[in-house]
Amino acid sequence: MKDKSFVSIDDFSKEEIIEVLDMAEEFEKQPVRNLLKNKIIANLFFEPSTRTRLSFESAINKLGGSIIGFTDASSSSVSKGESLHDTIRMVSSYSDLIVMRHHIEGSARYASEISSVPVINAGDGANQHPTQTMLDLYSIRKTQGTLDNLNIFMVGDLKYGRTVHSLMMAMSRWNATFNFISPEELKMPDENKLYLENLGLKYYEHTDFTDIISKADIIYMTRVQRERFSDPMEYEKVKNVYVLRDSMLKNTKPNMKILHPLPRVNEINPDVDSNPKAYYFNQALNGVYTRQAILCKLLGIGL
Ligand code: CP
Repeated sequence: MKDKSFVSIDDFSKEEIIEVLDMAEEFEKQPVRNLLKNKIIANLFFEPSTRTRLSFESAINKLGGSIIGFTDASSSSVSKGESLHDTIRMVSSYSDLIVMRHHIEGSARYASEISSVPVINAGDGANQHPTQTMLDLYSIRKTQGTLDNLNIFMVGDLKYGRTVHSLMMAMSRWNATFNFISPEELKMPDENKLYLENLGLKYYEHTDFTDIISKADIIYMTRVQRERFSDPMEYEKVKNVYVLRDSMLKNTKPNMKILHPLPRVNEINPDVDSNPKAYYFNQALNGVYTRQAILCKLLGIGL
């Protein structure tokens, strides 16, 4: 496992996912442990981030590791025209593990093929965000007591939202039923639906969810990904299509939880924040524990 990268959620077996979630539980009980002493982690963020970058930094600091890297490619030699190939080749000789966010789909897989150390995909374009999925799974298991047989509602930008692509793949291993709620322009891509069909799993597509909200165990809200639209007018048409409000939650299951990878724009009204069903800020905190566990797993470090 020492040299394995984490580029897609499918890079971990079901057993490995459970192992990481169990390890994250231990980190939640005791986050400060000197397990990454003498390890250097390179954080290469070619795209903006708050939660992913800072929760990785928090995780590394709590484990006694060191951090190098950049938060803006314009401060690196990429701005002089250096290729991703050369950047990764160099950085992998300076570090024990690379965490990379990049706007190009497939860039993390490419980096993992060049790198001499493990690469963690911190989001590659509209493709995948597997460490977000690990914290989503942790949050779902923690709040529902199980990952099995849940009714998952995914709402918003299902076309460009990389978090829903990774989460759908992951939850398909636990026999989830999916309800995809999106405008026509932002439907879940066919290749993802085919993935579920090949597994014999049920999914339903809707443009509204007010009449069916009572069935949800998890409502996973997403932001419309403005940065992925080539035509700003197309974004304007769909940007506020779903706004979850506290008044809509009256007939939901008592243990239903609302997740959101964040950042939010308008899709969850602030009046939801004080509802006990709102879990998105706790979800972001869970990112520290799960990223501690992922780092240790990839570096072959046990508790
Ligand atoms: N959820 C998430 O990826 O947030 P950031 O873009 O702030 O890292």
